[in-house]
Amino acid sequence: MTTFENFLEGHKGSALNDEMVVLLREIAQATRRISDTLKTSAFEGLTGATEETNVQGEAQKPLDILSNEIMLEACRNVPSVSFAVSEELDAEVAIHADGKYAVIFDPLDGSSNLDVNVTVGTIFSVIEAASAADILKSGRHQVVAGYAAYGPQTVLVLTIGKGVQIFTLNTDGTYVMTTADAKIVPEAKEFAINAARRASWDDVVAAYIEEAIDSGHNMRWVGSMVADTHRIFNRGGVFLYPADRNKPASGGRLRLLYEANPIGLLVEAAGGEAIIGNTCILDIEPTGLHQRVPVIFGSKVEVDKISAGYAARVLEAAAE
Ligand code: AHG
Ligand code: MN
Ligand code: MN
Repeated sequence: MTTFENFLEGHKGSALNDEMVVLLREIAQATRRISDTLKTSAFEGLTGATEETNVQGEAQKPLDILSNEIMLEACRNVPSVSFAVSEELDAEVAIHADGKYAVIFDPLDGSSNLDVNVTVGTIFSVIEAASAADILKSGRHQVVAGYAAYGPQTVLVLTIGKGVQIFTLNTDGTYVMTTADAKIVPEAKEFAINAARRASWDDVVAAYIEEAIDSGHNMRWVGSMVADTHRIFNRGGVFLYPADRNKPASGGRLRLLYEANPIGLLVEAAGGEAIIGNTCILDIEPTGLHQRVPVIFGSKVEVDKISAGYAARVLEAAAE
């Protein structure tokens, strides 16, 4: 049996330095605490919404706030952490003046699913950032990224740049490796999109979905990106949260730094693709901590069909 800690020790001195091992152990511990907190939340009055909204104007749930505090505490426990950036914080928070790593996280993804007992998760990304000005860099600079999904099982999915490992939390609180080298199958007849928003899709997305339905693809939409991502890790498919065609400048719904980038790194490390139109998500130069972007990722062959659609549109526009 390989535990999460064994895995980290095995890569210490090569893919991971001592500081990163300490940091990842602490992030794993935070996800154990969030997992435990979720299990008993109904008894602690931690349901419903609070009166608070975050910087993006979204109502915060008690568990959004608590998970954020647990992640922040993990950051404070690790001397190498310089800054924390979170969906639930207006701006970056300085942690240790001589730290070198910024930890960027969505403490609870899919929180609209909390009260209906559907899988939610924590998404995290780590980049080198000695000063606040270093935080806004493309996803290619991520050193590690991962997510925890809190469902029938609690799983921790990690990439240390190369390869993706999946660990499952056992009843003793130990994360045990259950997949050593996760790969996203290149082809799968399944897509995930919020079909209620189809009037706002651009032509490329609309054509892909129409063709997928006509050729017998299945649809799944959990409403927690971590859960939809985890399904894609297990059986392939494609996830789309495109921009609104009427408001393309406002981007999509999902946030670049703590949703799209970490998932993008994991997806590419597992042989999948993650794009926004003609560009890889990981190549986007960020302009703000809470910047929203359209997101399309998953099985390579499916994502390639969509990027070919965007490439054809560029050629058509050039010919006009
Ligand atoms: P969060 O709970 O962190 O705000 O993220 C929710 C996101 C994502 O998990 C999910 O895929 C998407 O919102 C669901 O959007 P719709 O409500 O439009 O389906
Ligand atoms: Mn989220
Ligand atoms: Mn969230």
